[in-house]
Amino acid sequence: MNNTIQYTVGDDVIATLLIDIPGKSMNVLSDKIVLELSACIDKVATDDDVKGAVIASGKAAFIAGADLTELVTAYDRGVTPVEGYEWSAALSAVFRKMETCGKPFAVAINGLALGGGFELCLACHYRVLSDNPKAVLGLPEVSIGLLPGAGGTQRLPRLIGMEKALPVILQGKKLKPKQALELGVVDEIAPADELLQRAKDWLLGDPDPVAPWDVKGFRVQGGAGANSPKNAQTFMVGTSLVAGMTQHNYPAPIAAISAVYEGCITPIDNGLDIESQYFGQLVSGVVARNMMRSLFVNKGAADKLARRPAGVEKSRVTKLGILGAGMMGAGIAYVSARTGMQVVLLDTDIEGAERGKAYSEGLLNKAIKRGYSTEAKAKALLDLIHPTTDYNDLEGCELVIEAVFESREIKADVTAKTEAVIPADAIFASNTSTLPITGLAEASIRPESFIGLHFFSPVDKMPLVELIVGEKSSDEAIARGLDYIQQIRKTPIVVNDSPGFYTSRVFSTSTNEGMTMLAEGVNPALIENAAKMAGLPVGPLAVMDEVTLELGYKITLQAAADQGDDYTPVSGFPVMQKFVEELDRKGKRFGAGFYEYPEGGKKYLWPGLAELYPLAAQQPPAQEVIDRLLYRQALETARCFEEGVMDHPADADIGSIFGWGFPPWTGGTLSFIDMVGIRHFVSVCDRMAEAYGPRFAVSDWLRERAEREQLFHQL
Ligand code: NAI
Repeated sequence: MNNTIQYTVGDDVIATLLIDIPGKSMNVLSDKIVLELSACIDKVATDDDVKGAVIASGKAAFIAGADLTELVTAYDRGVTPVEGYEWSAALSAVFRKMETCGKPFAVAINGLALGGGFELCLACHYRVLSDNPKAVLGLPEVSIGLLPGAGGTQRLPRLIGMEKALPVILQGKKLKPKQALELGVVDEIAPADELLQRAKDWLLGDPDPVAPWDVKGFRVQGGAGANSPKNAQTFMVGTSLVAGMTQHNYPAPIAAISAVYEGCITPIDNGLDIESQYFGQLVSGVVARNMMRSLFVNKGAADKLARRPAGVEKSRVTKLGILGAGMMGAGIAYVSARTGMQVVLLDTDIEGAERGKAYSEGLLNKAIKRGYSTEAKAKALLDLIHPTTDYNDLEGCELVIEAVFESREIKADVTAKTEAVIPADAIFASNTSTLPITGLAEASIRPESFIGLHFFSPVDKMPLVELIVGEKSSDEAIARGLDYIQQIRKTPIVVNDSPGFYTSRVFSTSTNEGMTMLAEGVNPALIENAAKMAGLPVGPLAVMDEVTLELGYKITLQAAADQGDDYTPVSGFPVMQKFVEELDRKGKRFGAGFYEYPEGGKKYLWPGLAELYPLAAQQPPAQEVIDRLLYRQALETARCFEEGVMDHPADADIGSIFGWGFPPWTGGTLSFIDMVGIRHFVSVCDRMAEAYGPRFAVSDWLRERAEREQLFHQL
């Protein structure tokens, strides 16, 4: 008996390989499992009393993917492309041995099978999938900077044709049971309790232990290579589309396309070798390290509440209060009711509160139209939201989130009214975007139960919530705030109180840099396009229009008033001032900003910009614009870290990617500094401070860190 795979042979002379990693809730493909699998395959192949084998899982899911612990540190350990190649080739060799050992292998896929788990299924001769809706199949490797390195780029296109395989490989598309069957990825779907028997039935029949691609004369469906016109077109168009979308910041999708294209015009063994070569290049590169670390390992840890203070009992919100049914309150109501909690949605008048609830109705109607929800489910969700103006309805709420106007007085007023009604142990959270939590908590009779829960707009789409710890916030309040974020299935970061907290503070440096460049005479189209080339979702001027120039203007005035003599004027402020005070171009919502918004048409940069900010005779290279945008944000993040706004580099990275779309290929704002090298980072900032102003000035703390070459993420 071995540890992770239980090998048994029944009277029916079928061997069962039950994968069940002890002490874990999920199976992941580790070196140990693969070694054991290899030994089991040898037993099946050599035992004359075994007719064939079925692979199954002892967990609720099949296999969640490969264990990334080793891979995520490959770059930092100096793993070479050749070593990366060998890792992939070794895994592929085991699967290939199974495929060609002469005995038939079937797989009973009882639940989720992703990455290496799905690739194992593809290497079996027969696949039966459970009709369980959670039993999804997919190859998500590209989304973490890798490609499927255990045969995925070779077997899937050979099985279903390149055209159908490419979206699964490039977009990490997850296939539900029905889709998987329709695509031909699995041979049959069965109810969970019949799964194993169906797989065995196939083995007990007259199974063919030869994969289709090992039969002489095999042709990939729809053709392969340049001689197939349709295929050539798929690759030409596909490659340019991917290059356009990724701007060559992400090597994985292009490598995956290449592996499919080059691999499928040769016999499978060559194809697998080609795949491993591309895998080796990717896994030893910095982008894969960045993406695996931030998007998978650290995000996974954040979702499991890595920052939750120990010793506080796990909590669940059953009744939530929301004050203010505006844009944010309405969104928070929706994402909360969606997970089954009762929501009391309070506003100053009942029409306002009802409007907030109607927002959920609108989202649900759209979901029903698209087939993602049903009338019954929508009604059940809406029944959970209770619009009101009466504070007494907040009785019994374990958590209340305030999302009223951004005014200290109004926030103080609603805090007092709420605390008069809610249980003594309830948590009160503010969704303020700018007002320090410690100051707001002064209006509370229980400042230890007061925290910030900063959501992002639109709440139903944005995955992050920034939890802000006030000076007096207790561990219990933090823990319960985190429990709630987990309950509504968002990703939390934990930051300490500071003006603008973390996300708003750093995000605004990017928009400010955009406006500053505009005022310097940098071509606005260059600013916007360079931002997109860097992988930011939209340019800084477009973002400013979205959040509105008016809001930026008001926040800046407020900060100047709050900080008094400590206030440092913001370089982009004169631009905002002109647009708000003189031009009445306050942003998209107002119909005009840096862009024109023609009714029914596409937005375009306002031609008046040319007159207002004449183009400088010498335009910077796009890379300089990119650097100004990225370095400025990374530097501000380093300042936050120095000031103790956040205690963990992972929070900075996750917050930047999921909060405002800092390019994922960098791994986030602090990973960016580690990636370019801290010494180099400091020297670029020094040059920029000289050229563009003191906002690029490096602190002694950072300079000393650079001298020691101290990484933010220690290995
Ligand atoms: P909004 O103007 O859409 O909604 C505010 C709502 O609060 C309105 O429905 C208003 O009637 C209600 N309200 C005002 N005074 C009230 C009172 N005394 N009692 C009960 N309800 C009252 O504003 P929005 O955008 O939803 O912002 C709300 C809060 O969330 C603000 O603190 C804002 O800074 C913050 N925030 C806003 C974000 C955004 O992108 N708009 C992002 C993150 C935070």
